[in-house]
Parts: sequence; structure tokens; C-alpha cells
Amino acid sequence: MAIWALVTGASEGLGREFSTLAAKDGFDVILTARQTDKLQAHAASLRRAYNVAVEVIPADLTDPVAVERLWDAASEGRQIGVLVNNAGLGRNGDITEDGGWPREADSIAVNIIAATILLKRAAAHMKGHGAGRILNVASVAGFLPGPHMAIYHASKAYLLSLSEAVAEELRSTGVTVTAVCPGPTATQFFASDGAERKTLATRLGMPSAESVAVAGWAAMTRGRRVKVVGAANKLLAFLPRLLPRRMMAFFVGISLKKRW
Ligand SMILES: NC(=O)c1ccc[n+]([C@@H]2O[C@H](COP(=O)([O-])OP(=O)(O)OC[C@H]3O[C@@H](n4cnc5c(N)ncnc54)[C@H](OP(=O)(O)O)[C@@H]3O)[C@@H](O)[C@H]2O)c1
Repeated sequence: MAIWALVTGASEGLGREFSTLAAKDGFDVILTARQTDKLQAHAASLRRAYNVAVEVIPADLTDPVAVERLWDAASEGRQIGVLVNNAGLGRNGDITEDGGWPREADSIAVNIIAATILLKRAAAHMKGHGAGRILNVASVAGFLPGPHMAIYHASKAYLLSLSEAVAEELRSTGVTVTAVCPGPTATQFFASDGAERKTLATRLGMPSAESVAVAGWAAMTRGRRVKVVGAANKLLAFLPRLLPRRMMAFFVGISLKKRW
């Protein structure tokens, strides 16, 4: 029986790269996001390049009912061997700013609720098959409180904690859960985060989506629980163990200010 990989947020950035790596490794692939044209074009190029089956299932992950439907459609008559919970978004701006809530609500719905539903459904399905790999795309932000991007950082802290806990619950079942924690990466993420000005992160050089996805995919394949990508991000993830939390929040807040 063919083994399938389900990749969310596969129309752009990291998700596109993860789905390419899945096809390269011989998985049949299910691509999901909202931009159907981009998904269809990507599906055609994966079929041509890797001779695997590729299905497109468009879904808006802000709607929990659509997320359940997505899983049902993806897993109907198929063994899902890999779930890449990649779709995510954030907003750079203070919590008191007017007009931020629709995007913040969407980030909670996609980064937390949709990721949790898919993790829960995939974990049960994979446990039943005695095998599977779940890759949750968290962030180095998950280690740090993020003034001016507070909800996004909190959502990634949630996903990181959830991943580590569920990885332990699934120990000895054949199912692994990996949280990959990139730092700022060259994708559409910053173009679409609602920031009119640049943050410090976007002023500094960013690694390619391809290199970050390769690191995350390799960690997942090895069954690692947490992978922080890049030396500077490893240091950032370690600093909260050394510095008072209030001091961390102060420094992160400076880096996330929109006036760089
Ligand atoms: N780029 C970074 O600096 C960075 C750093 C650390 C972690 N991350 C994480 O990496 C993941 C991927 O981000 P990226 O950088 O590749 O961003 P991106 O280029 O903006 O891509 C985001 C993807 O999420 C999908 N998406 C957004 N809202 C959606 C919705 N409501 N329903 C379904 N799909 C939705 C988008 O597809 P559609 O628009 O077609 O729906 C797109 O495919 C996210 O979880 C992000 O938090 C990114």
C-alpha cells in the first residue's frame, strides 16, 4: 500500500519545500492550502519530477470543521505516514493596536487549533498502523516571549510544548513527533505579516526556505523531538535558561520593534 504525506501550507515557502522533500523520498503527497492554482501547479511539477501520486485538497484552516473534513478526505482509504503541520501565520504589532484582531484570531485558529486537530487525528491513525512521523513547524519564537508579536510567539510556545508532550505519550508506538524551530527564514511570511516596516529580523540575512526544510525533514526522519535550526537560533533558544525572563522579553521586544 502506498504511504502518503500530508503537508499543510504547501502553496508557498516552507510547505512547498517540505512537500518536495516528501516526493523526493518516494511518498505520495497530499498538498493543502487555500491558493488552489499554486497547489495545482506545484502538484503537476512534483508528479513530473518524482513520478509520485499527488492530490490537492484545498482547505481554509481557520475553520475547524474544514480541518476535520480535510483529515477525513486525506485519510479516506489511505495510509498517512507523514503529517507536516506547517501552515502558520503571525502579526507584527502591539496587542492594543486597532484592527489587529482578525489576523490574530486567524493565527490562533491555524497555528493552534488546526495544528492540534490534525496532530490528534494523525496520532490516532498512525498509532493504529504502528508507524508514522509528525513534523510540527514551530519556531525559535516558541522559546521566547515576543513583545510586539505576542500572540504568534505564544502560539509557537504552545505547539512546541504540545509536540514534546505528545512525543512522550507516543513513545514505543512507532510514531514520532518532531518540532522544528527555525528562526527568520526567506519566505512570504514577513511580506504577509501585517508589518508595513521592517523588524530587525528582516533586516538581517535569512536562510533559504529550502535549507531550513532540509534540516527539519532530516530531524523528522531521525525521529528527533526538537530541532532548532541554525547556530544563532540555538543560542537564542538557550538564553532563557540563563537570563531572567523579564530581561529576555525586553531584548526580544527591541528586536521585534517595527522601526528598524
Ligand atoms: N518564515 C519564517 O521566518 C518562519 C520562521 C519560523 C517559523 N515559521 C513557520 O513556518 C511555517 C510556514 O511559514 P512560511 O514562512 O513558509 O510562510 P508563508 O510563505 O507565508 O506560507 C504560509 C503557508 O500557510 C498557508 N496558510 C496561511 N493561512 C492559511 C489558512 N487560513 N488556511 C490554510 N493555509 C493557510 C499559506 O497558504 P495559502 O495562502 O495558499 O492558504 C502558505 O502556504 C509557519 O508555521 C510559520 O509560523 C516561519
